[in-house]
Amino acid sequence: MANPATTYPDPVQIAVIGGTGLRELPGFTQVATLSVETPWGRPSSPIAILHHPSPSSGKPIPIAFLSRHGLHHEYAPHEVPSRANIAALRSIGVRTLIAFSAVGSLQEEIRPRDFLIPDQIIDRTKGVRPWTFFDGGMVGHVGFANPFDAAVSAIVSKCGHSLEGDGVKLHDSGTLVCMEGPQFSTRAESNLYRSWGASVINMSALPEAKLAREAEISYQMICMATDYDCWHSTSESVSVELVMSHMKANSGNARRFVGAVLDELSKDEHADVVSGGRLREQSKYATAMT
Ligand code: ADE
Repeated sequence: MANPATTYPDPVQIAVIGGTGLRELPGFTQVATLSVETPWGRPSSPIAILHHPSPSSGKPIPIAFLSRHGLHHEYAPHEVPSRANIAALRSIGVRTLIAFSAVGSLQEEIRPRDFLIPDQIIDRTKGVRPWTFFDGGMVGHVGFANPFDAAVSAIVSKCGHSLEGDGVKLHDSGTLVCMEGPQFSTRAESNLYRSWGASVINMSALPEAKLAREAEISYQMICMATDYDCWHSTSESVSVELVMSHMKANSGNARRFVGAVLDELSKDEHADVVSGGRLREQSKYATAMT
């Protein structure tokens, strides 16, 4: 087969950032591989452009796919070049971003291999990751009360529930704690997050979600629980091996879920959601306050 092209002629509005365990999307045809350079450096991987026949018109819909941790998992969560990732996606036209992440569960009813669509985030990163595009004389403030996009979240939720017969268990909402890492939490921290009512924990949602908001990209994370962190009295504490084993065992469902979301987003009826029209309207007063 010929190598994929290194350029793509049209804007690509929909993107997926794949995390641990979601590094490819079978069933899509890779038509281009873009090496993008941004003012914030290179993204964590080349951007694969995948073609997907539109469910409405049959015309191929392009999807951008970026590996958050690199093609060979070379970026730890605190090293991911998130500004370059978001800037690179925005520069090729992305307005809607589905981000995938393994998470630890902080609640009994969210079992390993369950999926969850978070609607809130608590920031427990340590301020060492570059977290804004607004610096060096460019001053801006964006609203972040609702860190995820409700319209995209509704589509994701519908798709997840449609797969329930195939073994996908979905929780429609929850608060995600994003911690710094790369060490996992202490038991006291894990219990503290539980006392706050948080649902799940990862190291990847921030600053990605904040930067997407600044770049006026609609953003929704899909989480897959891989462990009970370290608070649970009868389940083993989180380890990389535990995360990877659940991720591997459930990767078919993860791919099916993301594939169903892309099918749905590609429909003509969601054109306004996908093009980020609403987001531009909401944030028109939010930028460049000097
Ligand atoms: N990713 C998967 N499980 C996790 C945990 N328990 N803590 C932080 N990040 C995680």
